[in-house]
Amino acid sequence: MNSVLATPVTLGSHTLQNRIIMAPLTRMRAGSELEPTALNADYYRQRATAGLIITEATQISQQGQGYPGTPGIYTAKQIEGWKKVTEAVHEQGGTIFLQLWHVGRISHSAIQPNKQLPVAPSALAAHGKVMLPDYSRVEFETPQALMIEGIKAIIKDYKDAAQNAKTAGFDGVEIHGANGYLIEQFLRTASNQRTDPYGGSIENRAKILFEILEAVLTIWPSGDTGIRLSPLGTANIAAEPDPYPLYDYVIKNLQQYNLAYLHIIESRESVAGTRPPEHETNLTVEDLSVKHFRTIYKNPIIAAGGFDKQKAEATIEKGYADAVAFGRHFISTPDLPYRLINGIPANPYDRSTFYGGSSKGYTDYLPSDTAEYAERKN
Ligand SMILES: Cc1cc2nc3c(=O)[nH]c(=O)nc-3n(C[C@H](O)[C@H](O)[C@H](O)COP(=O)(O)O)c2cc1C
Repeated sequence: MNSVLATPVTLGSHTLQNRIIMAPLTRMRAGSELEPTALNADYYRQRATAGLIITEATQISQQGQGYPGTPGIYTAKQIEGWKKVTEAVHEQGGTIFLQLWHVGRISHSAIQPNKQLPVAPSALAAHGKVMLPDYSRVEFETPQALMIEGIKAIIKDYKDAAQNAKTAGFDGVEIHGANGYLIEQFLRTASNQRTDPYGGSIENRAKILFEILEAVLTIWPSGDTGIRLSPLGTANIAAEPDPYPLYDYVIKNLQQYNLAYLHIIESRESVAGTRPPEHETNLTVEDLSVKHFRTIYKNPIIAAGGFDKQKAEATIEKGYADAVAFGRHFISTPDLPYRLINGIPANPYDRSTFYGGSSKGYTDYLPSDTAEYAERKN
């Protein structure tokens, strides 16, 4: 008890009941038209004791989609589906933001409009494999480099999606600027070799991020808008050789927008430089990148990636972040806030049910206040 995680925190226009955030988690269980279903509403309802739920990444257009079964926010049916989700969470007294997503080159012509090649800053293929609608994996294709009109169309799609999120009853939106997707593809030198105003200097590579942000801010107040970045991340993309000048520039400039929060994913690397199989880093609180970014960003910060109770508490107590997001533990543990605050272990998670499927590994994890849980535990 007396955990700092249990204390309220104000992020922009929202005062949250605790500092435990549900991280955005792709689960690939949307309906046949990529609309959220009653099953998805149940899943979020079960997790509504989070101080804030950030939804799974949600594509702003068909072009923005990169995986099977991920929900969209660009059709009337999808908006209706999300309404069921926001109503379910609000009935439980929860707060929920929609994560706005465009995957850029992390896609395949098989799921793109008119079977076109995916779009990206430059015609450079991602390394590794992409998942097709039948869940098989093939090498990434070389994407088509976006023309200026294409960039403008994407910014418009963000604006429309932000409006749709409002219609669907969300409390706010988070711009997904992390994990190797479109915005990060523009930020990073490995994927952006443009010679126009969207490439070259740090300022140019960050231009689309600020244009997207400003488009979203024509729909949502800044206090209802957050952004997620992964400065040291290597998911779907090569590490930036020298990430700090780039991310210091971006984060310093974000300061002036007075956003609800800046959401930072910590590196998965261990201090020794080896990549653990899971997100089990051996980074201490003093090794976290938020310690550095806190010095240049004074508004609320959410930290994410490899946290447990002690590390989350210490990170907040030292002032490096205001709240902490949990991913995998929220998948397996609907009542994670209660458990963290009371020192009760989270349920083990089953990686094989992370992506796709039905209620198994999705809505069938038990909260600790059920007799069934007590029985199963014994
Ligand atoms: C199954 C799964 C799906 C994820 N989907 C998303 C996503 O849609 N958007 C996003 O920004 N991050 C996504 N992430 C990253 C998580 O939000 C989080 O940063 C990561 O799991 C590290 O936190 P943890 O150590 O508490 O799990 C995903 C992670 C997992 C395990």
